[in-house]
Amino acid sequence: MIDLSINKEGLANNIKKAKENGIIIPKISQMQHPETIPGAIQDKLKNVGLWDINPLNLFRITWKNEAKESGGLFREIPNYVELPSSLTGVPCRIIAMAGKWFPTGCHKVGASFGCLAPRLVTGQFDVNKHKAVWPSTGNYCRGGAFNSRLLGAQGVAILPAEMSQERFDWLHEIGAEVIATPGCESNVKEIFDKTNELKLDPQYMIFNQFAEMGNPLWHYNVTGYALADLFEAVKRPGDKFAAACFTSGSAGTMSAGDYLKEQYPQLKLAVGEALQCPTILNNGFGGHRIEGIGDKHIPWIHNVKNTDMAIAIDDEDSQRLLRLFNTPEGQAYMKEELGLDDELIEKLTWLGISGIANVLCCIKAAKYYELTEHDVIGTVLTDSAVMYGSRIQELNDMYGAYDRTAAIVDHNIHMLNLKTDNMKELGYADRKVVHNLKYYTWVEQQGKETAELNALWYDTEHTWDAVHAQAKDLDELIDAFNEETGLLKSL
Ligand SMILES: Cc1ncc(COP(=O)(O)O)c(C=O)c1O
Repeated sequence: MIDLSINKEGLANNIKKAKENGIIIPKISQMQHPETIPGAIQDKLKNVGLWDINPLNLFRITWKNEAKESGGLFREIPNYVELPSSLTGVPCRIIAMAGKWFPTGCHKVGASFGCLAPRLVTGQFDVNKHKAVWPSTGNYCRGGAFNSRLLGAQGVAILPAEMSQERFDWLHEIGAEVIATPGCESNVKEIFDKTNELKLDPQYMIFNQFAEMGNPLWHYNVTGYALADLFEAVKRPGDKFAAACFTSGSAGTMSAGDYLKEQYPQLKLAVGEALQCPTILNNGFGGHRIEGIGDKHIPWIHNVKNTDMAIAIDDEDSQRLLRLFNTPEGQAYMKEELGLDDELIEKLTWLGISGIANVLCCIKAAKYYELTEHDVIGTVLTDSAVMYGSRIQELNDMYGAYDRTAAIVDHNIHMLNLKTDNMKELGYADRKVVHNLKYYTWVEQQGKETAELNALWYDTEHTWDAVHAQAKDLDELIDAFNEETGLLKSL
C-alpha cells in the first residue's frame, strides 16, 4: 500500500508554495471524468497551450483532452486510433488510445503524477527541502520534470546517455537537472546504481517508477477506466473486449489491464517486450530500439499473476513501420493501395515506436487467439512519432530514401506477415517463473523483503487491490490540500 501518513511541516510548506504559485491539484476522479473539472478552470484552459509550463495543465493529465495544441478542453471519449484490417491483416478491431495529447506528448506524465501526488499532499515530499528524482529511460522523467516544474519543485532526470536527442533537449529546456547514465534503453541497472548513490543525500527524494505503487494506482484508475469507456463508446452489437496488450517498461500501463480484467472477465492481458531483450519470455537480455520499454528486469509493480501472455516484438518491425507511417511515400502507399483516408493516415503519426510495438502485439495476440471481427483488442500509444524525428532521419541515412517498393515490402514483411512465434501463453507455473525473477533485482539488489515479494503473489487483496482502492483516499487528501490553499474557492 502507499504510505499516506502526514508530515505536518512538509505539508505546510507545500501548501504555502502552492498558494504562492497558484497551484490547484487535480483529483483522480477528475482525470476519469474531466467534465467535472470546475468551469472556471476550464475557461482558463482555453488560453493555455498543451505543453505550457502552467499549473493549470495538471488538469490535462487525462486521456480525454481535445486533440489541440492550445486551448483544448475535453472530449467524452479518449483520443484514439482504430487500425483497419486492410492495414493490420487481422479481422478483429484494434483500438489504441493516444498519449500524444497529454502535456509533454506522452501519458507518462500521469504515472509521474501518480507517484508524486501522494507524497506531495501528505508532506512527505517537502518542496522546500527535496528535489524530485525521476529515474527513467526518458518519458517518465520528462513527465516528472514537467510536473515538478508545475508544482514548484526542482526535478532531477536520470536517463541513459543513448536515448534520443529530443529527450535531452527538452529536459534542459524545462530546467531539470539532467544526469546521463551509461548505455541504452535496457540499461536500467545503471540507472538504479545512480539512484542509490543519490539516495545517500537527503535532499534527493527518489520516485522510482519501477517500484512506486502510485504508478499502478494511476494507470488502473485512469488508463483502465479510459479504455473501458472507449470500448463502451465504440462497441457494436455483439462485440467483445477480447484482449489488451501493452509493452512494458515500468509495467505501470499493465495495471490498466488489471482493471479491464475485472470489468471484462474473459479479456486476455498480454505483456510485450523487445525480441532483442526477451526478459519475460526467455530470461533474456540485450540492447534494443523500442524506446521506453524492456529494461532487463521484472518491475516490482508488474502484477505478473494477472498476465496471460508474453509477446516479443522484433525491434526491426517497429522501426520499419515508423518509416511507413511517417514518410510521404509510405503515406501515399497507404492511401492509394490500402484505401486509408487522410484523417487515419494523419492519426498513424500518433504512434511512437512503442505504440507501433503495442499494435504489433495486438496483431500477434489476434492471430494466436484467432480473434474475429466481433473481437476488440485495446492498447495505448504511449507517445507519438513527434518524439522520434531524429530516429526517422537515422533510418533514412541507413537505408536510403523511402519509396513505394520499400513501403510495400515493409507493410507485407513487418506487419501482415507477423506470425505467432516468439510469444507464450502463460500458465500458473510460467507466471510464477516470471514473478520469481523479481527476487534478484528487488530483494538481492534493491532492499525489498522476501515477505513483500511473496505478498505480491499470494496476497492480491492487501497489495494490488488495496493500492487500486487508494485512489479514493488520495482524492480526499487532494481535496483537503486544495481547501487549505483556498485557491479553488477564489477562482
Ligand atoms: C515510449 C514509451 N513506451 C512505453 C513505455 C512503457 O510504459 P510503462 O512504463 O507504463 O510500462 C514507456 C515508459 O516510459 C515509454 O516511454
